[in-house]
Amino acid sequence: MTEENTYQLLCDSSEVEESSEATFEIKGRSILVIRSDQGELFAVENKCPHANEQLSGGRFRGGYYACPHHGARYELSTGKSMTNLSTKPLICFDVRENGGKIEIIVPKKEKKKFVPGGAPPGFGPM
Ligand code: FES
Repeated sequence: MTEENTYQLLCDSSEVEESSEATFEIKGRSILVIRSDQGELFAVENKCPHANEQLSGGRFRGGYYACPHHGARYELSTGKSMTNLSTKPLICFDVRENGGKIEIIVPKKEKKKFVPGGAPPGFGPM
């Protein structure tokens, strides 16, 4: 098992109380951790796929999270977009509690690779 796929300590469990959220920086990524009123934990990238704005500060209810900027709504367990505002899913991370600590698996952020080949069809010279 590589370090990429192992749980890392994020914080004490008490730092994310029921019906609350908190943000953390880990491996160069901003992570939004949400705990539902039933105590269920979710961890997602703190960036809305709609317009790449910060996601934290939105509303969550019933396993869904609404972005505070334009209201795009996402299913927290899968990241699936529930509105037409964004076709891209929210990035979700594996999160768990272990001995009073919250642990998370966060892969390194992939750098976009340059792929030679020119412009997509319809955008190049005729
Ligand atoms: S940036 Fe989140 S809905 Fe637009």
